[in-house]
Amino acid sequence: MTTPHAPAPLVFPPLDATEALRPPSPLQEEILRLKRERNAVILAHNYQVDEIQRVADYTGDSLGLSYKAAETQADIIVFCGVHFMAETAKITNPGKTVILPEMDAGCSLSDSCPATQLAAYKEANPGLYVVAYINCSAEVKALSDVICTSGNAVKIVSQIPAEREILFVPDQNLGQWVSRQTKRPMRLWPGSCYAHVLYSVRNIERVRAQFSNAPVVVHPECIEAVRDMADIVCSTEKMISYCRDNPADTFIIVTETGMINRLRREVPGKSFVAGPTDHCGCNDCRFMKMNTLEKLRDSLATLSPRIEMPAPVMDAARIPITRMLEWSRAGNANA
Ligand code: 13P
Ligand code: SF4
Repeated sequence: MTTPHAPAPLVFPPLDATEALRPPSPLQEEILRLKRERNAVILAHNYQVDEIQRVADYTGDSLGLSYKAAETQADIIVFCGVHFMAETAKITNPGKTVILPEMDAGCSLSDSCPATQLAAYKEANPGLYVVAYINCSAEVKALSDVICTSGNAVKIVSQIPAEREILFVPDQNLGQWVSRQTKRPMRLWPGSCYAHVLYSVRNIERVRAQFSNAPVVVHPECIEAVRDMADIVCSTEKMISYCRDNPADTFIIVTETGMINRLRREVPGKSFVAGPTDHCGCNDCRFMKMNTLEKLRDSLATLSPRIEMPAPVMDAARIPITRMLEWSRAGNANA
């Protein structure tokens, strides 16, 4: 079906040699120099802009970033992502300085589950086993039994004792997908990601009609009807290996557009079509894209803005995060 005034699909061809080997700009050189002087590590999420990903020590999904943050020997962690990710890095490194270049880089999904509401729900419904998707505040983590990411959610939920009733917060879409995969009924918190719910069957059908041989790769934060169209539903990290291993030469990527930067660098010779919304050929998360190279440079120069939390919140939140890292380590969650 064709939508009147539908935005044209955005097709990202393979990187040519000039783009692939582009040397750092003066601003990127300055960032790399400051990073060395500060003994800092730059961690970047897959949704960051390409210029940031290219100066990062590690670019990955929430799970990979959590491991890197927990293991780093650097004195300073600069987290190019959103607030809950930098909080997680601080919780696993309470003695280190953790910097988020843009303090207002939040997350609609995290905001959809305020800790006060979760505390009240738990009090009214005692005995629930609370699984929190990592996209939540430190205070919500502190009220949870175990954390998960989209990369390990199935594996984490599979390890919860069968007799426990599960409350999954805050993403109803990921929770529903995990419930189907694991065949575990769950109570689902009614939260969602404002960006991923913009995808609809109609707009994905539109690109699929033009790229009929392209597998549809979908993030589990999308609604069920869109997930049902997918050739694979997976975390952003798994998208890399899926596109590398699949013989197709073109893929439709139904997640935040920054993902395509890494796909183009790490899956050479293939093309990627951005999943469109009704209004745009792509879909940028307004929070993820608040970080810029200039803010990254300034944050390294001033060692601010810093992530700080009360020690009791960090101590309580560390328990379910550590549990996730341990449960997830028993094999490759992104496999
Ligand atoms: P990943 O867990 O795949 O990194 O996704 C994080 C996220 O914020 C998705 O919107
Ligand atoms: Fe949050 Fe959605 Fe942005 Fe991910 S894409 S950080 S879930 S608002």
